[in-house]
Amino acid sequence: MAVMSVDLGGLPMKNPVTVASGTFAAGQEYADFVDVAKLGAVTTKGVSLHGWEGNDIPRIAETPSGMLNSIGLQNPGVEHLCAHEIPWLEGQGATIIVNVSGHSLEEYVAVIERLESAPVDAYEVNISCPNVDAGGMTFGCDCGQAGRVVSACRKATDRPLIVKLTPNVTDVTEIARAAEEAGADAISLINTLLGMAVDAKARKSVLARVVGGLSGPAVKPVALRMVWQCAKAVKLPILGMGGIASGEDAVEFMLAGATAVAVGTANFMNPRASLDVVEGIRAFCEAEGVEDVKELIGGLAC
Ligand code: SIN
Repeated sequence: MAVMSVDLGGLPMKNPVTVASGTFAAGQEYADFVDVAKLGAVTTKGVSLHGWEGNDIPRIAETPSGMLNSIGLQNPGVEHLCAHEIPWLEGQGATIIVNVSGHSLEEYVAVIERLESAPVDAYEVNISCPNVDAGGMTFGCDCGQAGRVVSACRKATDRPLIVKLTPNVTDVTEIARAAEEAGADAISLINTLLGMAVDAKARKSVLARVVGGLSGPAVKPVALRMVWQCAKAVKLPILGMGGIASGEDAVEFMLAGATAVAVGTANFMNPRASLDVVEGIRAFCEAEGVEDVKELIGGLAC
């Protein structure tokens, strides 16, 4: 059996697989299908200081080999997470990554400060959501803004800080470098690609907010390319994601330079997808004679 453990910027993971924020709630909804303790980590839906209602509906649309969402980071707020979700995850023995959101730099910091007394293993700073007018991607598209948010979050915690990057930029490596310089321990990518869907007969956009984030197998080649570019540009470990649905998909991301991977949209079609990916990586290692999964990281021949 291959050694499956990895270290993501100071976060020990029993295997390289987590779930993409926003596709797995905080795990309880998936309890009938997934023993969350068997995942490398559970990454929760983005949380803000107070609850957010999210965007108007419709805010989901199916697209060829993917889906669009414009949820707008709907969530019940950090107090709810601390009272109802984190204790459950801790009770299950899960490794916990909390995705942190904010409309302002101060809000990101306040969320982390509140979580410091909770049994959280790492933070994922969301500077990449394309569905909010303040915070999210508006911070992640600019090196200066991204650096300021990361550096403020860095001052608020010694826990591993993962910074989630948007693909909706000209050069993702510039933002990755800004995150590294500001003190990030790891980066995660990609968040969704900005897109839209049109209902021709109604002559209307399908989503109420018109634009939304594209995810699923359709984005995998873009995600692989950006993981590969960032792996060459920074020393930080990478949490790779974008259309991963099988062990072999995950291995492709690791070969491109990812230390760990996240399963996202696949959870909506197959609620066991994350565990299937863990087993798929294990099977790949066994079939290919890989003794330690870490051998795969950055192992692309080209
Ligand atoms: C959303 O809630 O709009 C999606 C989350 C994200 O893209 O970070």
